[in-house]
Amino acid sequence: MLIDLIKSSKYTVVYTGAGMSTESGLPDFRSAKTGLWKNENPELVASTEALNRDVEKFFQFYRERVLGMKDCKPHNGYDILVNWEKSGLIKSIITQNVDGFHSVAGSENVIELHGTLQKVHCQLCEKEYSNEMYEEERFYCECGGKLRPSVVLFGEGLPEDSFMKAVDESKKADLFIVLGSSLTVTPANQFPILAKEQGAKLVIVNMEPTQLDEYADIVINDVKIGDLLAELESHLHS
Ligand code: APR
Repeated sequence: MLIDLIKSSKYTVVYTGAGMSTESGLPDFRSAKTGLWKNENPELVASTEALNRDVEKFFQFYRERVLGMKDCKPHNGYDILVNWEKSGLIKSIITQNVDGFHSVAGSENVIELHGTLQKVHCQLCEKEYSNEMYEEERFYCECGGKLRPSVVLFGEGLPEDSFMKAVDESKKADLFIVLGSSLTVTPANQFPILAKEQGAKLVIVNMEPTQLDEYADIVINDVKIGDLLAELESHLHS
């Protein structure tokens, strides 16, 4: 049982994907009806290629996502993870998400594999700005360079320091809990495997089956993450 694993674990690492934020109102990417990639080809809008070849579409795609984040905030599941970190039940969160919600909610040890949409920076001089520049449709740096979100675009590698921290955490884990990811994007989807190979118990919580379910000790489908976290929280403090 997941509750027993959480109670007996010495080093639990939580790994989140876009499914962690859908209950906050942010669409994920690959849910059949509502995922962002249902209507857009990620390579054409969220890539370095798009930034250089179709920059207006790139700007508008990311401006929409920045505006969408403005009206959303972390749901109760995020607060539960903050409490679990404070009480030592979990040691770190590795996230693919760029909404910054784990940090906004108050989690401390958060590894953002794919960067953050809370900031933009100049493609030329790398000067950093708040994402309000995109809200205000200000897409160019003082130096004249294009401003781009501080996220990992398709065609780019992961930030070295985040990658190494995630490797380190995955190796230390004796329990690795995936929340809301289809686990289809490399190299981010290698961390659950790395943890498993190092002897961790692997739990995958996802509305739909994922391509790594065969490696998991426990798979929980068809349950909303927010509801599951609330249920676990109630048992942990019963
Ligand atoms: N509860 C449980 N699972 C959910 C919920 C929910 N409330 N909402 C969505 N899900 C599940 C969906 O079934 C889906 O399989 O979350 C999963 C999210 O998968 P993706 O949309 O593929 O998102 P993710 O795995 O985070 O994508 C990884 O792909 O496009 C890139 O950089 C982007 O970080 C992203 C990466």
